[in-house]
Amino acid sequence: MRVLAFCNRKGGVGKTTSALNIAAGLQARGKKVLFIDMDPQRNSTQVYRAKIEDEYTIYDVMTDACEIADAIQHTETLGDIVPGDPQLDEVVYQIMQKTASERILRKKLKKIDNIYDYVIIDTHPDQSIYVINALTASDGCIIPINADKFSIDGLADEMKIIDDVKENANENLSVCGILMTMIDTRNNLDKSMLENMPLVAEQLNIPYFKTYVRKAQAAKDIQTSSMPVFIEHPSATVSFDYKNLVDEILEREP
Ligand SMILES: Nc1ncnc2c1ncn2[C@@H]1O[C@H](COP(=O)(O)OP(=O)(O)O)[C@@H](O)[C@H]1O
Ligand SMILES: [Mg+2]
Repeated sequence: MRVLAFCNRKGGVGKTTSALNIAAGLQARGKKVLFIDMDPQRNSTQVYRAKIEDEYTIYDVMTDACEIADAIQHTETLGDIVPGDPQLDEVVYQIMQKTASERILRKKLKKIDNIYDYVIIDTHPDQSIYVINALTASDGCIIPINADKFSIDGLADEMKIIDDVKENANENLSVCGILMTMIDTRNNLDKSMLENMPLVAEQLNIPYFKTYVRKAQAAKDIQTSSMPVFIEHPSATVSFDYKNLVDEILEREP
């Protein structure tokens, strides 16, 4: 089982959209995939149309009220998910006071180790205990960014968190790559970011995905259709991008 987290403490960079489409893409290639929504805002949970009332959620997993297997919901269009929960926000300090608080998710995931090929974790844009848990439980992380200076400037800070987790909680964690999303190839700033990415990645000593995701209205529709973009809009540019990205991820995975 490979566990991949989508993280960037900057919001609105395409973490959720990418996590959703890549999870669906891996599933379309015959992989067994579990999605975990660690974001209390639960955008992914809404797209999966998973229920959180009277159901176990990631909140129950993190507070040890249940095991991961108890919190999995099977959905028709997107597959299996452990739903997110706004109550996570209320128990941050309670969770932080537990011993080995950064390893809660990792320990829980060990119990379903042989059921899934991939676990995809969507995270909140911050450095909370939940992001640390996601990274501690992961084999790899994918860092979506946009073509703007703030995104590039934020990469060094993002790497500090990842290096910190690597040093203190999960030495096996690796960066799968920086993923450029919402790219407008007609825009000069975007073009120059595509050109500069090899140098930026070399300076930070982290890999990047050769495939980038283009900006397209079709990418937004998943919010209402609950269908991966390559099914809802098979001929949209962004569908090809996500398909190529799944290929690139599978090529790199051991
Ligand atoms: N390739 C894309 N083209 C156009 N809009 C996109 C694309 N990817 C994401 N978006 C939109 O950008 C916004 C932020 O994306 P989201 O995936 O929610 O980011 P994050 O999870 O990092 O906050 C959403 O409205 C989403 O629909
Ligand atoms: Mg999100």
